[in-house]
Amino acid sequence: MTTASEQRERRAAKAGTDTIVELLTRAYRMEMETVANYLAASANLDGIRAQEVARALASDVGEELDHARRLAERLRQLDALVPGSLSLEPTQVSLQPDPGRTDVEQVVHGVLEAEEAAVAHYRELIAEADGFDWVTQDLAISILAEEEAHRRLFRSYLREYDEGDSR
Ligand SMILES: [Fe+2]
Ligand SMILES: [Fe+2]
Repeated sequence: MTTASEQRERRAAKAGTDTIVELLTRAYRMEMETVANYLAASANLDGIRAQEVARALASDVGEELDHARRLAERLRQLDALVPGSLSLEPTQVSLQPDPGRTDVEQVVHGVLEAEEAAVAHYRELIAEADGFDWVTQDLAISILAEEEAHRRLFRSYLREYDEGDSR
């Protein structure tokens, strides 16, 4: 026989896990969309000035894919299903390639938007998992550190362009 307080606790734990799974699933979708868009942007960028950004994006593809892989692993540990391509719910409007335009600054702005969104999302996941799911929290902290490093790198490209424009 279970007491009312045990039932309450179990319900709360179930609701907590549902929230964590939801946030992990959303993180997985975001990473997969990022992989697709960084790969496309790195291939689409033309010109000398864009080469370094293209190279940075190409190397980030591997890191973002690794994030997706680690999130998928955690989802399975929580008995949740890893989504397929039809449920990716894309949102990265600013990273869509623009025919006839290979504006590297525009790409960097789009990347920064994606990195900001990732940073905000992992912070939310860390807060939500606090005191409840340490393994997920640990994973989110380690991915957050990498997203912050990406953000820093692309901010430095933007600063260079701003300085270049004012010269
Ligand atoms: Fe990522
Ligand atoms: Fe990133």
